[in-house]
Amino acid sequence: MELQIPTVDLHDLSSGDPARIARASAALREAFGVYGLVYIRNHGVDTGNLNSFYDAFRSFVARPESAKRPYGRADLWYQRGWTPPNTEVAVASGGQPDFKECYFAAPLPGDPALIAQYPELYPENIWPEDEPQGFQRGYLALGKALHEAGLALLRGSALALDLPEDTFARMLDGGPHVTRVLNYLPLGPDQVNTGILWGEEHTDFNLLTLLPGGRFYNPAGEPAGRPDDKSGLYLRTRASAEHPNGQMVRGVAPEGCIVAQVGQQLEILTGGAFLATPHVITAPGVPGWTRLSSAHFMHLQSNQLLFPLQKFHTPEVIRSYAPPVLAGTYSIKTLVDIGLAPKSALDKLGYRHYDRLDTMRAG
Ligand SMILES: [Fe+2]
Repeated sequence: MELQIPTVDLHDLSSGDPARIARASAALREAFGVYGLVYIRNHGVDTGNLNSFYDAFRSFVARPESAKRPYGRADLWYQRGWTPPNTEVAVASGGQPDFKECYFAAPLPGDPALIAQYPELYPENIWPEDEPQGFQRGYLALGKALHEAGLALLRGSALALDLPEDTFARMLDGGPHVTRVLNYLPLGPDQVNTGILWGEEHTDFNLLTLLPGGRFYNPAGEPAGRPDDKSGLYLRTRASAEHPNGQMVRGVAPEGCIVAQVGQQLEILTGGAFLATPHVITAPGVPGWTRLSSAHFMHLQSNQLLFPLQKFHTPEVIRSYAPPVLAGTYSIKTLVDIGLAPKSALDKLGYRHYDRLDTMRAG
């Protein structure tokens, strides 16, 4: 099989023309079924603004650690503001933290009822004092545009699976969607080619992730092309009889395209018809280079049941994804798994007033 990640044109999906929709649907089924990733053309995201947004973020990350520390909020499980280096770990990494620092902000307002029920998933945005020029504006505009592209793709995904068009889109209204911007840290001369990764292999735990593209900076701190052929995003294809470990494929979007990746929530809803993409961000083989990139994570609404849709039920699918859980409790569990939320967060997932009876009996 030739490994070629399909491209889907959002104009095809929204054209109303059965032939164009059928073509895009077939491409989407292959993209999300085999690769878990698709390139999107005519996505409506103004990627021309990315460079100035990255310049603004770069001036924030260049600040001393002590100036960034107040925005690193463990009490908010790092769901807003700055995530320091050596904080998040991939579940598969065996404890090796990623070589990155990040910032989180929500581009859309949360639902008041959900904010009250899941406060750590829906904190207020935090913005740096002396905000770098255009940081907040560029951030929110990017997040909103990526979200719209994601909604269009999810409507197309439903059609591609012979589901009502709004099947996925209506399940995520008011969800804890979050846009992240990342700074992948430079490796020293003694660190390159030692197996250190910018981002260890993992699958995203949300529904769908949108990636608008990143920017490399050379050791002099200037924007530059790719440092070498080694660094970048690699995904692992679905296992097959011929390739039981899948195959590693480099994800490089064609000019003008953005990338969308399947997360665990979409895999679960589709009973594995669409597969969460295992992906890794490899570091360059040369020292001193950094890369900025961003991602928008679309989540199911937190009280949405996370279980395969009826259409995909088979005994094996039910075994694979049972028991059903709420998307919000699933998020809490995963944020503990990846080191962002404290283990004590799990104690809230059940009754926690047993001490009342103890107190009463003691009295
Ligand atoms: Fe990821």
